[in-house]
Amino acid sequence: MRKSPHKKHRISLRQKAIAAIFLTFFFLVSYVFYFTIVKEHRHDEAEIIKAARMKASLISAATSAYVLQKNEAFLQEFVNLALGDGDIEYIEFVNREGGVLAEGGLQDQHKIHMEKDGPNVQEIGKPEGLFHQSGHLFNIRVPVVHGGKNVGEIIMGISTAEVNRRLARTAYWSLGIFVVTILTGLLLTYFLERRMRGSLKRLIQTAGYMAQGDLTQRVNIEIGDEVEELGQSFNQMARALSLKEKELIMAKNTFVSIFNGITAGIAYISTDHKIIQANHAYEDLLKEVTGTPLVKGQKCFELLWQGQDVCKNCPGISAMKTGKPEAMEKEVILKNKELHVFWIHAYPVQDPGKNTVGFVEYILDISQQRKLENELKTYTEHLEEIAEEQTRKLKEAQEQIVHQEKMAALGQMVAGVAHEINNPNSFITYNIPLLEETWQMFEPIVLAYASAHPEQRMSGLGIEELCRDMRELIQDIKTGSDRINKIVSNLKDFARLDESGQFKPVQVNEMIEKTMAIVGAQVKKSIGKIEMDLSSDLPKIQGHSQKLEQVTANLIMNAIHAIPENDKGRLSVTTRHIERLGSVLIEVEDNGIGMEQGVIDRIFEPFFTTRREAGGTGLGLSVSYGLIQEHNGIIGVLSRPGLGTRFTLYLPVDRE
Ligand SMILES: Nc1ncnc2c1ncn2[C@@H]1O[C@H](COP(=O)(O)OP(=O)(O)OP(=O)(O)O)[C@@H](O)[C@H]1O
Ligand SMILES: [Mg+2]
Repeated sequence: MRKSPHKKHRISLRQKAIAAIFLTFFFLVSYVFYFTIVKEHRHDEAEIIKAARMKASLISAATSAYVLQKNEAFLQEFVNLALGDGDIEYIEFVNREGGVLAEGGLQDQHKIHMEKDGPNVQEIGKPEGLFHQSGHLFNIRVPVVHGGKNVGEIIMGISTAEVNRRLARTAYWSLGIFVVTILTGLLLTYFLERRMRGSLKRLIQTAGYMAQGDLTQRVNIEIGDEVEELGQSFNQMARALSLKEKELIMAKNTFVSIFNGITAGIAYISTDHKIIQANHAYEDLLKEVTGTPLVKGQKCFELLWQGQDVCKNCPGISAMKTGKPEAMEKEVILKNKELHVFWIHAYPVQDPGKNTVGFVEYILDISQQRKLENELKTYTEHLEEIAEEQTRKLKEAQEQIVHQEKMAALGQMVAGVAHEINNPNSFITYNIPLLEETWQMFEPIVLAYASAHPEQRMSGLGIEELCRDMRELIQDIKTGSDRINKIVSNLKDFARLDESGQFKPVQVNEMIEKTMAIVGAQVKKSIGKIEMDLSSDLPKIQGHSQKLEQVTANLIMNAIHAIPENDKGRLSVTTRHIERLGSVLIEVEDNGIGMEQGVIDRIFEPFFTTRREAGGTGLGLSVSYGLIQEHNGIIGVLSRPGLGTRFTLYLPVDRE
C-alpha cells in the first residue's frame, strides 16, 4: 500500500519502546561482555603465567642439584611426572652449555620459538576471536640456580585450553541470557504497549471529539496505573473546559448583547481598514448613510463613507500609530440629502504581544446635538431680543388683565348706572304719551286763544310758534327717552344683567343667515360685494342664538360704517370648524377704512366711538365683548388703516 505523500512518517510508541529496550540491553550486554569476558580472559591468562612461573621456580629449586649433576635419568623421571599436570604441555631441562638434559611433551614448538636469549615468557599460536576453545601456549623460561650459580634453565609450555573453554562457556551462557532477556523485554514491552495503546487510543479519540467542539465526551480507563490517572485528569480537564466553555458562551452572549445594545455604531476594524465585526447600530448607520447592508471584510472608507482612499485625518490611523484613543468629526450628506455630523472615536487594539492589530471605531450621529448647540448659540446671541419680545408679551398680557379687570369694574358700574337711569326714564317713557295726549287736548284751546289774541307773545315768540315748538319738544323728549331706553338695554347687555334665556345648541350658519336677514337691507345698500363662505360641516355650539345674532349684527354694521359712502366695498363672512382647538370660527372682514393702533387699543371700551356725530354710542363692541365672554369665547381683531379690518370670533364646540 502506498503511503499518502502528505502523511508525516510517525514512529509509534511501540517502535520507540522496543528500540529503547533493545539498545539498552545491547549496550548493557556489550558492557558485560567487554568487562567480564575480555577482561576475565586477560586476567586468567596472567594468572596462568603467574602460576606457571611459580611451578617452574619450584621445579627449578627441587631439581637444581640434579641439573648440576646432569642426572638425566632423574630429570627425565621428573619431566614425566610434571607432564601429568593438566596445564603443562611440555617441559625441558637445559644445562649451562645449552645441552638438553631431559625433555617431554611438544618440544618442537619450544624449539621453534624459544631463542637462547629471548624473553622469559612467550605466547605461541594465539588463535583469532574471543570464543576460541582450543587455547594456545605460553613458553616460560626459568633459570636453574644452585649454590648461587646458574647451572641451567627449565623451559615449560603452559596451555590456556582449559581457561579458554571455561571462558567460552561463560560467553555462550551470557549470550543466551542476553537473547532471552531481550526477548522477554520485547514481549513485556509489546503487552504493556498494547494495554497502554488501547487506553491512549481512547484518550486520543476523545481529545479529537473535544477538539471538534464536543466537550461532553469522557474517557473510561480502569487499568489501575498512571494512564488511568491520566484519564481521570483528562476527564477533569474536560469538565473544567466544559464549564469554561459555558462561561465563555455566557460572556460572549453578554458581550454581544452589550455590543448590539449600544445605540452608537461600533465596529472592529483591521489595520488594513477591513470591517471585521460591527454592531446593529453600525449596520443601521450604514443603511442610513448609504442604503446598503454590511459586508464584513470590506474596507470601512469604501463601504461607509463611499471613498476611494482612507479618510483624511482618519482617527483609526492616528490611534494605531500613537497607541492612544483619537477622535474626529465628519460631515456627510446622507442619501436623503440631509447633512449629518458624525463623531468618530477610534481605540487601538493590540494582541498579547503588544502588536497593533486594528482599532475599534465608535460612531455617533451628533447632528441633533450640533443643531441644538447652534440654536443655543443663536438663542444666546438673540437673548436680548427674546427678552425684549417676552417683556413686550408680558406687557401685553398685563394690559389684557388690566383691561379685563377694567371691563369687570365697568360692568359693575354700568349695571348700577343702568338701573338708576332705567327707573327715572321709565317715568319719562310712561308719562310722555300722557303729556302728548294732554297737549293734544290743550293745543286747540291755546291756538283758539292765540287767534283771539294775535298780539299775545311769550318770550318773543307767537303762541302758534310756541305750540309748534311744544310738539317738537314732546317729540324730542320721546326720541331722547327711546334713546335712553336703547342705551340702558345695551348697558344691561354689557353688564349681562339680562340673564334671560338658557343656552341651547346653536347652529352657527343658521344664526348668521338670520342676522343677514335682519341687516340685509342695509348691507345691500352700502356693500358692493358680499362673500358668504359658510362651512358645511360645522358642529353646533352651546349658546344664546339672539345674543350671538346681536354680536354678528354689530360686527356687520361696523363693517358697513367703515366703508365710505359712494365707495362700494367688500364684506366677507366666513365660518370654519377648527377641530384642533375644538372651536367654531366666525370671521367678519371688510376692506373699509381700518383702524390706527390707538383706536384698536380702545374699541372694547364702553362708549368709545369715532362715530359720535353719526349717532354711534360706542357700546356695540363692548357689549359684543361681554356676550362672547358669556359664551366662553374669544373675540380678536386685525386691522390696517386704509386696508380694512377683520374681526374673528372663536366659540367652543358643544361637546354633548
Ligand atoms: N369694521 C370697522 N372698521 C373700522 N373701525 C371700526 C370697525 N368696527 C369698529 N370700529 C371702530 O370701533 C369703534 C367702536 O365701535 P362700536 O361698535 O363699539 O361703536 P360704534 O359703532 O362707534 O357705535 P354703535 O355701535 O353704538 O353704533 C367705532 O367707533 C370705530 O371707530
Ligand atoms: Mg358699532
